[in-house]
Amino acid sequence: MAQIIDGKIVSKLVKDNIKSIIESKKISPSLAVILVGNDPASLTYVRNKTKECLEVGISPKDYHLPEDTPEEKLLELIGNLNKDDDIDGILVQLPLPKHINTNKILNAISPYKDVDGFHPENVGKLMIGTPFVEPCTPKGVIRLLEHYGISVEGKRAVVLGRSNIVGKPMAIMLLHRNATVTICHSKTKDLSEITKQADILVSAIGIPNFVKADMIKKDAVVIDVGINKVEENGKSKLVGDVDFENVKEVASYITPVPGGVGPMTRAMLLENTVNLALFRRSC
Ligand code: GUN
Repeated sequence: MAQIIDGKIVSKLVKDNIKSIIESKKISPSLAVILVGNDPASLTYVRNKTKECLEVGISPKDYHLPEDTPEEKLLELIGNLNKDDDIDGILVQLPLPKHINTNKILNAISPYKDVDGFHPENVGKLMIGTPFVEPCTPKGVIRLLEHYGISVEGKRAVVLGRSNIVGKPMAIMLLHRNATVTICHSKTKDLSEITKQADILVSAIGIPNFVKADMIKKDAVVIDVGINKVEENGKSKLVGDVDFENVKEVASYITPVPGGVGPMTRAMLLENTVNLALFRRSC
């Protein structure tokens, strides 16, 4: 049976470290968190992010804007936050409502306050192997692998999903650590044939229980980035992309949902915020 990769334990270590850095450097970093609209999942994510900011000594500044906020208003707010010396980081929760051009918004955030690492300048730096800010979820996955002593070099890694938030940066980060990387997506043919070759499988497709035991190689490392809400016996619960109960019998390591990658994403957000705060103070 697989060893469980415990994101709660590792994220606690990261957060303790962040707290002690904030205390020893006598800084009080601040993070602007912008949410447009009332998407229930986004509301939960933003609530958790602000709660954890407070736990480590980061001041969250919440901007909850109505669903019909014009794009120009959001650009104006970001412009003001870019100039505001009291703000170290800016996060715009995605997805944005359809009338807003996401790329235009991400472009408007100063690369030096871009806690998500989504600005094209930071994406480019990551791509060429000189990262400044790394996206939180893939960064959290790499940190979990490191913590559990799972080497990446020379391994076959398969990433399911090609989003800008997880799939693409995850593949690049594994590649930079000398894995042989394949990205699979909704148009991939013979998916199981590819996943069965993976020493490390990272799933970020958002389909509940999609990855079955017969799709993975014996002793593979299985990282589940999916957070999917499903109804079970009239109650809603969170499940990942991976059929955890069956896959854990075949894998060597596996992340649970909840309690795997999710807490690491939030911990990396806090780490990115503190790193940007320290960077700005050193300039
Ligand atoms: N929506 C889903 N994941 C993320 C994330 O990591 N950052 C932001 N800003 N929005 C998201």
